[in-house]
Amino acid sequence: MKTLGTVVSNENGPNTLEFDFAINDNSVRKGQFVQINADSTIIARVDEIYKTNRYFSRVESVIEYERGGNPINEAFPVDRWEYLVANCSILGTFNEGKIDRLTFPPSPGSKVVEIDEKILEKFLGFDQKGLWLGKIFHHNLEARINLTRLLQKHVAILAMSGAGKSHLVSVIIEELLDRENSLGKPAIIVLDPHGEYKKFSQDSFYRKYTKVFDKESIKIGVSTLKASNFGDFLELSNAQKRELNKVIQNMKKENYDLDDLIAEIDASDIKSPTKENLSGALSMLKAFDLFDKYTRPAIDFLAKPGQLSILDLSDFIELKERQMIASYFSRKLFFERRNNHIPPFLLVIEEAHQFCPEGKKEEALSRSIIETIAREGRKFHASLMLVSQRPIRLSTTVLSQCNTHIVLRVTNPYDIEHIAKSSEGMSGDLIKSLPGLKTGEAIVVGEAVNFPIMLKVRERKSRKSEIEKTFEEAMIEFSLKNKLSKEDLESF
Ligand SMILES: Nc1ncnc2c1ncn2[C@@H]1O[C@H](COP(=O)(O)OP(=O)(O)OP(=O)(O)O)[C@@H](O)[C@H]1O
Ligand SMILES: [Mg+2]
Repeated sequence: MKTLGTVVSNENGPNTLEFDFAINDNSVRKGQFVQINADSTIIARVDEIYKTNRYFSRVESVIEYERGGNPINEAFPVDRWEYLVANCSILGTFNEGKIDRLTFPPSPGSKVVEIDEKILEKFLGFDQKGLWLGKIFHHNLEARINLTRLLQKHVAILAMSGAGKSHLVSVIIEELLDRENSLGKPAIIVLDPHGEYKKFSQDSFYRKYTKVFDKESIKIGVSTLKASNFGDFLELSNAQKRELNKVIQNMKKENYDLDDLIAEIDASDIKSPTKENLSGALSMLKAFDLFDKYTRPAIDFLAKPGQLSILDLSDFIELKERQMIASYFSRKLFFERRNNHIPPFLLVIEEAHQFCPEGKKEEALSRSIIETIAREGRKFHASLMLVSQRPIRLSTTVLSQCNTHIVLRVTNPYDIEHIAKSSEGMSGDLIKSLPGLKTGEAIVVGEAVNFPIMLKVRERKSRKSEIEKTFEEAMIEFSLKNKLSKEDLESF
């Protein structure tokens, strides 16, 4: 194991929380994990690196010398007195696979060595059979996150636009689809406002696992709705809901559509104006072209082990329509999961701030069910993955239930502040590094890892979607396509 330096004693320590060491190897980097082999193995992280030089430590001498026209670095061998010092925070001890808190400080003079990557892997809580997300910073170690630790509770993926959220989600989806059957596979359902996950259905390998549902194939079965569900979609008074409930109870047909229901209301003996208002309110839903006799896709078709189901919402223009779909299908999924009719699932919600925003309930009719799943889903293995570029607009109830936060680049100060408040385990140092992250670089904090980690998300195996192509790639592809079709035409 390579020695990196020697623990020094100064006013800060060493104590049980931190120590400084004099660096004798220039490979040491901020954020790197290191180890001290004492009675037990001490694991620490380099939080900062300082340079010191005693020739320059006293302001008055520096000024006096330089004033005399006698630069210090010409008069003295200053280079030889420049030292590097690393400030480290102690994360714990590691003994025979067990992590403990350090209760007695390391001694000055202890050697600090490069960390054994086998130890680091265990120390961070990685799992050989876990989800391979990428490589951690500064070490030759792949981040393989244990599936249960990631999905047992919920995950938030937060970052500004273009930082690599959807790429990361695709990597996670690949990992879930690639799992051996014997390890178990969840059902994956993606609420996809931009239709960017369709690419899985065009990929030669992943297409066999993928089902895409779009405007043509998504319908809400009117006969599956209770009066309270209509109450989510429309503003109904209590009296209206009561009457609607009676009408629904008395429907003779087993499967009926909006027209059937409205006709039944019109023929009923509900008093005016409740009757007209109720009938009028339900007629408004007809404008959405979303309601039908039967629900499509059926829930057990939507949620199958090892299947990626994409609800492509890109052709639903109105936000309200998208929210109705989100609300209806999340509710159904959660309900059927509670009854164990469908497998444990992961529900990915892209642009989550559109579906569960902070603010008034009326602003997003899908919010309450998403909050319910966030609060109770864990007990039923119903997991949420919320993806958002505007964390500050996301429901704080939901955000606080996400026990793992994966944060990529964020530069907006309000969003940074919000993340600092809502991500437990996100230290001040990590927060400060958020604006400087490059595309695809992420910080993982919370339940999924024993300690916060920084990683470079791996390349994807599946195809890129159209919207992810660079401007240049799109231009070249367009010209190629045009050239080919011209040649076709000529040869014809
Ligand atoms: N880890 C990575 N390795 C290589 N390329 C990446 C990585 N992460 C992201 N990219 C590329 O960066 C671009 C933006 O990524 P992505 O679409 O995932 O961003 P986003 O955070 O989802 O943005 P938006 O909020 O606009 O949806 C894409 O072209 C993607 O292929
Ligand atoms: Mg995206």
